[in-house]
Amino acid sequence: MKEMYCTEDKKDCINKKEVNNFIAETSNNISKRHNSERVAIVLDAETLKTTTTLEKHGFDSFNILIPNPYIYKKIAKKHLFTYNCTLNTLLNKHIYTKVDVAFFDYCCTFSGNIEVNPKKDILVYFKKKLPDKNSLFAVTFSKRDSKIKEPMNKARKYIMKTAKQYGYKSQLIYKKEYADHGAMFVLVYKIY
Ligand SMILES: C[S@@+](CC[C@H](N)C(=O)[O-])C[C@H]1O[C@@H](n2cnc3c(N)ncnc32)[C@H](O)[C@@H]1O
Repeated sequence: MKEMYCTEDKKDCINKKEVNNFIAETSNNISKRHNSERVAIVLDAETLKTTTTLEKHGFDSFNILIPNPYIYKKIAKKHLFTYNCTLNTLLNKHIYTKVDVAFFDYCCTFSGNIEVNPKKDILVYFKKKLPDKNSLFAVTFSKRDSKIKEPMNKARKYIMKTAKQYGYKSQLIYKKEYADHGAMFVLVYKIY
């Protein structure tokens, strides 16, 4: 498995910084749980930008779970709860606790590829009823999707439908399209 994310190019990415801060601050404002109890699942890179932002806003490092089979050793050196598996395996096999922040910060499109199937990840996350009420669910996708038209609308419809199917309400509270070595979009939902 090969790492696709260019950490060095993205280390000062203003868009990532903005969304990481938004997620961490908003979780502080909406969660009913004590800081030390809040749990996060994040796709993070070697620089641990999402993880460190959550920690700065009160998350306990032990409650931040990072799956990453691509650069497992590099991340595991810095962060205890790093899993040498994909997000899908983590969700299916290792998580039984309620989650306050899920940031599926993908590098791929909503349609995915041979290794990553975002629809399956989103489905299992809601089907297992992992989101706590008053939690945040966020995704990033590349817009260059050759398989479907209007990928952002498709992703939005799918997230709303899947959340509803398993008894959750979802409210889109942050949406941004940006060009950063490729066109991307990010969506953040309040789940309640
Ligand atoms: C976009 S980067 C994360 C950036 C980070 N959140 C930040 O704000 O700087 C996503 C990381 O997760 C990995 N990744 C992507 N899809 C994954 C999946 N389905 N399971 C596990 N890791 C994945 C990528 O290889 C990359 O290292």
